[in-house]
Amino acid sequence: MTEINPESGLDIERAVQVIRGAEYLVALIGAGMSVESGIPPFRGPGGLWTRYGEPTTLSYQQFIEDPAAWWGKRLTDEIQPGNTTYELKIAVDNASPNSGHFALAEMERIGLLKHTITQNVDNLHHRAGSINVAEIHGNRTKLRCIGCRIRLSRDEFPIVETPPLCPECGSIIKIDSVMFGEPIPPDVMAVCIDQVEKCDCMMMIGTSGTVRPAASLPLAARGRGATLIEINPHKTSLTDAADLVLSGTSAEILPLLVAKVRGVPEA
Ligand code: APR
Repeated sequence: MTEINPESGLDIERAVQVIRGAEYLVALIGAGMSVESGIPPFRGPGGLWTRYGEPTTLSYQQFIEDPAAWWGKRLTDEIQPGNTTYELKIAVDNASPNSGHFALAEMERIGLLKHTITQNVDNLHHRAGSINVAEIHGNRTKLRCIGCRIRLSRDEFPIVETPPLCPECGSIIKIDSVMFGEPIPPDVMAVCIDQVEKCDCMMMIGTSGTVRPAASLPLAARGRGATLIEINPHKTSLTDAADLVLSGTSAEILPLLVAKVRGVPEA
């Protein structure tokens, strides 16, 4: 593993060479990607779970046992300050894509980045223009039926009864965001596995590598011979598995990578 400090031009060139030489580049994204958009991470300095404690792994089971009570609390928490739901809602409602999101969308547009697997539910990749995005932990702007798995826009499907029922099959509707203890929806998981099988290089950007199965994807890719590049200001549980580590924020490193890959002289 080579520790690369993006300040030294020579070092980041090696990362650029790896990316340029990749046949099928995939990115795995974590909450750190949206820190410059004003959304706190979950762990580490200023993390939501660092401050409020990590939710129980029984969250999904509690939802299934009493979805009406869960929705009642959710709708209250969304309007009452002082809880993680409220804090995350306000932060995401006021967030815009940052230079890191736009750099990823540009990498996809020029054919360099084939797919983005994001753990973030903030919808910022889509707003930045990325198209090939697998949202392994869901998308907070959507609802999902636990029966037929249809996804609905939260804006277009106001919650008038609790629990809301699916207009297609009558089953219970939940938020699309994956809860602790909830299996990853199989349609999204299939895309992630397919991307791991295809990729020969994976950038791990702004993730602590704590939550499975997302954190297992880079290791599976590496097991198939892919090169791993980590972009993070801090060490993580994936750092030792990385071939290259760019120590810094995604908002500073990704635009630098795109400019160098495109051969654009630095401003
Ligand atoms: N740029 C890049 N990375 C950053 C930045 C930044 N500006 N600021 C912080 N980071 C890094 C931290 O060093 C940390 O490694 O982002 C990572 C954030 O880690 P987590 O908060 O654990 O986020 P993530 O890895 O996405 O968590 C995975 O846990 O609670 C669940 O569903 C939640 O999707 C989330 C999952």
